[in-house]
Formats: sequence, structure tokens, C-alpha cells
Amino acid sequence: MKRGDSAAMCMGFEAMKTATIGEAVAALQRGEVVAMPTETVYGLAADAQQPEAVAKVFAVKGRPSARPLIVHVASPLALDEWAEAIPDYARRWAEVFWPGPLTLVLKKQAHVSEVITAGQDTVALRMPNHPMALELLRAFAGGLVAPSANRYQQLSPTTAEAVAEALADHPPLILDGGPCEVGIESTIVLCVDGRPMILRPGMISAQMLTEVGGVTVGAAQPSNTVVVPGQDRLHYTPRTPCKMLDREALAAFVSETQRVGCLSFGSPAGAHSASVVLPAEPKLAAQQLYASLRQLDQLGLDLILVEQPPRCEAWGGIRDRLQRATA
Ligand code: TXA
Ligand code: MG
Repeated sequence: MKRGDSAAMCMGFEAMKTATIGEAVAALQRGEVVAMPTETVYGLAADAQQPEAVAKVFAVKGRPSARPLIVHVASPLALDEWAEAIPDYARRWAEVFWPGPLTLVLKKQAHVSEVITAGQDTVALRMPNHPMALELLRAFAGGLVAPSANRYQQLSPTTAEAVAEALADHPPLILDGGPCEVGIESTIVLCVDGRPMILRPGMISAQMLTEVGGVTVGAAQPSNTVVVPGQDRLHYTPRTPCKMLDREALAAFVSETQRVGCLSFGSPAGAHSASVVLPAEPKLAAQQLYASLRQLDQLGLDLILVEQPPRCEAWGGIRDRLQRATA
């Protein structure tokens, strides 16, 4: 039995197709998609050099083609293969934070397919920090596009079983690398034209970037021209309606008619039909965030209440995902 098979059967996903690195490489070379673990969330990978393979990723996800993809690479040395006019601060970030949960958006090389970049002249690059993803990238010896391995606008999967469930209609081959350590998607920074800007907050903060890059990092203002799907208001959404409340309101919330679930930090808040308590430490809370939302979502509740996370920067990525889930 391969790793993950027993867990998959317990979850009722007998059909989960786990792969070895060799099988995954062969499938990618044939232009197939393969789900791979990363330290943030599982990705749905395809060969970045085959536009038809990249198109399959959009089809399996049900994602509009106007939403660009991240190219995953095996080393900071790959920066120059995909991007040009790379600012010094971006090189420094790649040296220090890669492999890790940081995506750099840079001016693209002419050869980078517009299917990947959705017609933009920039490309998003990231070196993931997961032994299996790195082994795959080295064995494949090329870039892999990989959005999160879920249907468009739904919760990102942080286990192989969650991938099998999320993509049950088009089950891909899956490399089972266990649960993801970071748990929310990478920080995305735009590194073109002057001051760098965070497009999607994550566990690498503006302060960490400023310290290492010696440059002030801004945050993008929400605008009507959405180039980052992570900036869509409705993203990372459970099927159950979700609402964010501060702790006091959460503890006081009573419903005579609705079955209510509650996600809080540090300790339970009030008496609800179901309750999940996440650690009061952002790294640990991020790790379990999507699995906890998924768990509550599967209970058939009428409403999920989520505690407003602390307003400090360390919670920025979590706050961002929860604001979108409850928008
Ligand atoms: O942690 C992660 O980043 C995960 C793992 C699998 O690596 N990937 C991920 O991919 O979250 P996805 O496709 O769900 O989100 C990628 C984000 C999107 O918001 C997309 O708009 C943005 O990256 N993006 C990609 N290329 C871009 C570009 N050229 N300019 C601006 N944003 C870009
Ligand atoms: Mg996603």
C-alpha cells in the first residue's frame, strides 16, 4: 500500500491516485496535471513550457483564463530563466526566503507563455519549501505552473485527501507529502516599477521583506481591475455561510433556529452546535486554518462564525483569508 492510501480509504476516497516522483515526472512530460504538496497548500502542477498542459490546469480548476499562474522553480538561479530587469532587492529576497512561502512578480522573459501570465508582461515565480516538491522540480528539470489544487474560489487543500475531495470530478495523480506546514498561500510581492507592493499577504510580512531587502514595501489597494484572484472578494470560501465577529459578540451569539459552528482562537467562545479552537499563535493557527474550515463546512451547519483575528501584522495573512471567506 502506498503512503496515504489508508487515510484516503478512511475518508472515503478509494479512488485517490497517489503517484511516485517517477510517475509524476512522466505524467507531467506527457502534458498531464499532477497535484503536488508544497509547504503552503497543495498545488495542481503542469509543465510551464506546454501551453496545452497549462490550459488543462484552468479546465480542472474551473478557473477563468484571465487569472495568471505562479511558475514554481527549483532554485533562485532560475530567476533569470523566467524574468528580466530583476531588482537587487528581489534577488536578495529569493536568496534569503527561498525555498519558502514568497512569490515574486517580475517582468517576464519573452518566451514565457501568455497562457500562464494571462496576457500580462509579468510572471510570478516561487521556489517551494517542501522536500517532495523540490525533488519533483529537480527530477523534472523545468518550471511547473501550480495554482492551489481546488476548484476556483473554494478552500485550498492542505492534505492529499483534501485534494482528492476538492477535485473529485477530475481526480489527478497526487504526490502525497502529508499535511502542509505553513497552511495558507504564499505572500505575493510585485517587484516592478518603483516601490515593491504586497498583492497577497501571507506568513512572510512586509516588515520581514523590508528588513532583508532594504526597501519599503507597500500593500496594494483593492481596485476594480483584479489581476490577483486572491484579491477577489469571494475567495477561499466554505459552502456554509460564514460571518466574522469579535470575541464578545461571538460569545454572546445565540440562535434558536440555526445550527451554528464557531472557529475561535485560544479558547472556546460561547456555546455553539460545533466549535473548533485554533492556537492563539499565528504560525500554528495558519497551519490548521483551512482544515478547520473544511471540517466545519462538512457538518451541514447553517452558519459558521469566525473570531476576528488580532490586528497585528503577524496575523495579516490569516486575517486576509478569513475576511474573504466571510465577505
Ligand atoms: O502558496 C502558493 O502560492 C500556492 C502554492 C501551490 O504554491 N499557489 C497559489 O496559486 O496560491 P493560486 O493560483 O491559487 O494563486 C496565485 C496568485 C493568484 O492570485 C494570481 O493572480 C497571482 O498569484 N499571480 C500570478 N501571476 C501574476 C502576475 N503576473 N501578476 C500578478 N499576480 C499574479
Ligand atoms: Mg488559489
